[in-house]
Amino acid sequence: MVDSKKEIVAELLSKEVNLSKEDVFKLLEKPKYSNLGDISFPCFVLASIYKKNPFMVAQEVASRFEFAPEGFSKVQAIGGYVNFFYNNSMLAKQVLESILYKKKKYGSSKIGKGKKIIIDYSSPNIAKPMSIGHLRSTIIGNSLYKIFSFQGYSCIGINYLGDYGTQFGKMLCAYDKWGKPLEEEMKKKPIETMLGLYVKFTEESEKNPALEDEARAWFKKMEDGDKKALELWKTFRDLSIGDFKKFYDLLGVEFDVYSGESQFKEKAKLVIERLKAQKIAVESEGAWLVPFGKDEAPLLIQKNDGASLYATRDIAAAEEHFKKYKFYRKIYVVGTEQNIHFNHLFSTLQRMGYPWAKNCVHVGFGMIYLPEGKISTRKGNLVFLEDVLQRIFELTREFIDKDPKFSKKEKEKIAKAVGISALIYGDLSNDRVKDIKFDWNRLLRLEGDSGPYIQYTYARASSIMKKEKVLQKLSSIPNMTKDEETLIKDLDSFPEVVENAAEHYSSHIIANYLLRTADHFSTFYEKCPVLTAEKEVKAFRLHLTKAFAQVMENGMLLLGMVPLKRM
Ligand code: ARG
Repeated sequence: MVDSKKEIVAELLSKEVNLSKEDVFKLLEKPKYSNLGDISFPCFVLASIYKKNPFMVAQEVASRFEFAPEGFSKVQAIGGYVNFFYNNSMLAKQVLESILYKKKKYGSSKIGKGKKIIIDYSSPNIAKPMSIGHLRSTIIGNSLYKIFSFQGYSCIGINYLGDYGTQFGKMLCAYDKWGKPLEEEMKKKPIETMLGLYVKFTEESEKNPALEDEARAWFKKMEDGDKKALELWKTFRDLSIGDFKKFYDLLGVEFDVYSGESQFKEKAKLVIERLKAQKIAVESEGAWLVPFGKDEAPLLIQKNDGASLYATRDIAAAEEHFKKYKFYRKIYVVGTEQNIHFNHLFSTLQRMGYPWAKNCVHVGFGMIYLPEGKISTRKGNLVFLEDVLQRIFELTREFIDKDPKFSKKEKEKIAKAVGISALIYGDLSNDRVKDIKFDWNRLLRLEGDSGPYIQYTYARASSIMKKEKVLQKLSSIPNMTKDEETLIKDLDSFPEVVENAAEHYSSHIIANYLLRTADHFSTFYEKCPVLTAEKEVKAFRLHLTKAFAQVMENGMLLLGMVPLKRM
């Protein structure tokens, strides 16, 4: 548990009332308004045990704390609640000391020590452009990786490529027929060229259906391990990964393992055998499937030509990953349009008797809508992701270009970092399951609710610190203003925010926190002069500013943003 103050309150209360510390802990809340205190104990459960009015119970419990316990300024009954108020100057001292001592580690924990979490994210399909969905998966998965690592888990990031299936028979066939003259182009723009080949195949096969048979024959060759087929397929895969990596580098994203469906094609055959033997799968018109409710689509595991499917390979991959890693959780970061797939996948694993099936989690997310509608990888949207990035860099360059204090090289670096952070924040500032309407203005504006605003506030705090080389020791905490208190409470809550984000697989909670805290800092900065204040106040405000910058930095890193001290 991160929040030790809540623990203290639970301990104190459990000595006074007829509940265990754990039970009290679960009941504790944060009051809606800060003038109602910091930790609140609702007395309704107790009231029903004692068969008394909750107001009376609250009065009675509060009366036991006539002298506020250490660390608190008062304990008060308000309605049916007992509210504990922090001693704010003690809190300020503790929080600032803790942040400036722990630095980059502030907010981290060891809760996940010795436990492995597998995160399956990005996972695009080879020989095809990455879609916006893959972009979201990359951003969300990368952030979850950082959050869970910060909590002490050992994370294994897996890029599970869509690199197997009958469509590759078509690719091989197309390449065999029309690929030779495209070799140079293929090296320069691999994915575009491969997509072109695929499109050509589709067009040609409409005119000449015999091509489909050829494609099936190519796929069969691949399944049978034919050398030439596999070599070609491997070239497609390598070239695709090379292209994807350019994009990951820009985003600052890495993976521990590049895996893919192809690695599980053999094991998938065994899965099919087992599902048949266990009578979990049933036959239907030559194909095999795992049935679900009457109105639900089944999970297809074998086509009538004997080939395995996406779901079959996912079953094999999960089995293999559990065998290899004994994971505590396996997280699949994939769009909500695959909800049914994952529901059925997990319950099939359960039917197969795997107790670890309940530790598999689908972290879904909504779509991004452009003004024109849903983004797809088909046709016109081929270079969309690259366009998005280029457009962002253009815009960030524009505003940084006017600034004379940076060299050309610095400007380029800043434009990139701000652009990437804008994109990341633009995604993670939304509740992940909601659909997003793509809006350039919102992404890049400098005021409020945008990556650049978060960074700008952080850079401003960092620049104050630069003006003040030596930080005076903090001997005492002066009387604080409301704005200072608010900021202290924000900083104090960061570890809990991280814990919440992890619990709900929701980086959005951290993004919101950063925005709120940046706003509170801006108000503080406007109302409370730092450098011109008298000595003790100045020392305190400098500490507060420094601690704020540290917490912002920690939070931004958890989202995958690039904190810039200057911009
Ligand atoms: N390649 C898939 C797609 O683009 C996503 C794979 C997600 N991971 C998984 N284990 N199913 O839709």
